Amino acid sequence: MSDTPDPAATTTAGRRYGPRQRHSKALDVARRGLHLVTTRSNERAASIYEQPAVVYLDAARHDAEIDVLFRRAPIFAGLSVEVPMPGSFKTLDIPKAPVVVSRQEDGSLRAFLNICRHRGAAVAYGTGSARTFVCKYHGWAYDLDGSLRKVRGGDNFGDLETGCFGLTEVAVAERYGLIYVRATPLRQNPEPIDIEAVLCGLAPQFEEWGFETGLAAPSIHEPVVTASNWKLAVDGYLEPYHFASLHKTTVARYNNSNQATFDAYGPNAMSGFLGRKIDELGSIPEADWPLMRHVQLIYTLFPNVILSVMQDHVEYSQIMPGTTVDTNIMNHLYFRYPEWDVEEVHAKRFLNTQWILTEEDIPMAEEVHRNLRTGGLPTLVFGRNEPALQHHHRSIEAALRHAGAL
Ligand code: FES
Ligand SMILES: [Fe+2]
Repeated sequence: MSDTPDPAATTTAGRRYGPRQRHSKALDVARRGLHLVTTRSNERAASIYEQPAVVYLDAARHDAEIDVLFRRAPIFAGLSVEVPMPGSFKTLDIPKAPVVVSRQEDGSLRAFLNICRHRGAAVAYGTGSARTFVCKYHGWAYDLDGSLRKVRGGDNFGDLETGCFGLTEVAVAERYGLIYVRATPLRQNPEPIDIEAVLCGLAPQFEEWGFETGLAAPSIHEPVVTASNWKLAVDGYLEPYHFASLHKTTVARYNNSNQATFDAYGPNAMSGFLGRKIDELGSIPEADWPLMRHVQLIYTLFPNVILSVMQDHVEYSQIMPGTTVDTNIMNHLYFRYPEWDVEEVHAKRFLNTQWILTEEDIPMAEEVHRNLRTGGLPTLVFGRNEPALQHHHRSIEAALRHAGAL
């Protein structure tokens, strides 16, 4: 499924056909994908869906999405391997609620608003490892558990009950190698995050992937601010329909652009993308199928993360709304499987993905946003062949309506 050399060719058959390559959902996708290719059919939505352009342009709608989808509800924060050790931390630029997640001495996670209790600077940036968080504005120091350890020049500052000036804690949960946070202060919503409930039926699949122990540290694309509404950036991941045209010299060389499987799990979804040679499976006994060579499992972790499980690696894009309706912040991370150790293959693949994103997908989302802003297209049309796209927009509408924001 790739234009890069097949690492399996230089490794053992045991690696190629290891447990990760025999995932039950991958088998389901391969069976259904082979059926689609053989019968020249597709898994389609019931009807065409029309979406008013205003949902990408309206500032009030944007604020409501941030509040309902990104602040009040749990969102995917990252994979456990990103904060592997006590002291490891990761910041998340959630609009209007920046968060820092940190690994504690006992191995658990805590999360806080990344806002200093003195006068509002951040206490951490990016990802890394720290024994304390020291605010760079005036140097207040916080322990990993968020408590205020030291006020610089404290004698001079005046009396302060340091026990009352810890970082503002928010909910965090970790399971199956996935981390979720909810960027609402715990004092406003103390309810723990139930990852099983958030995954809406996807938990067994992630349990089977074994991300807790099975991924190497990520390659991280520096977050980029791009000039489109966040939903346009997400839309570009939700259908393979555009491969044959926008990606005709890249992705379309190894992926089928016309057919995919689709399953909804609450507001989340999984699309099974198919390799161009998946029909080869028709002549191989099912027990011998090299599944992951022919399918990619593309998870939408509602509302803003697209996590792709590939033959030899996992990658995800995390798209945050910008502070205005016409920008978003895109993070892209790439994790390889430790046993699949052909470094140069991974390096080439990572760069290749970056190139496709920055030269093809992002410019297209920006172009669409510019055109929508002209008012020249009142309504966009999502085809029956774009079920994940339809599902995503329906799920956003439903969440906003449920919260009374529509
Ligand atoms: S704002 Fe953090 S120490 Fe002043
Ligand atoms: Fe694309």
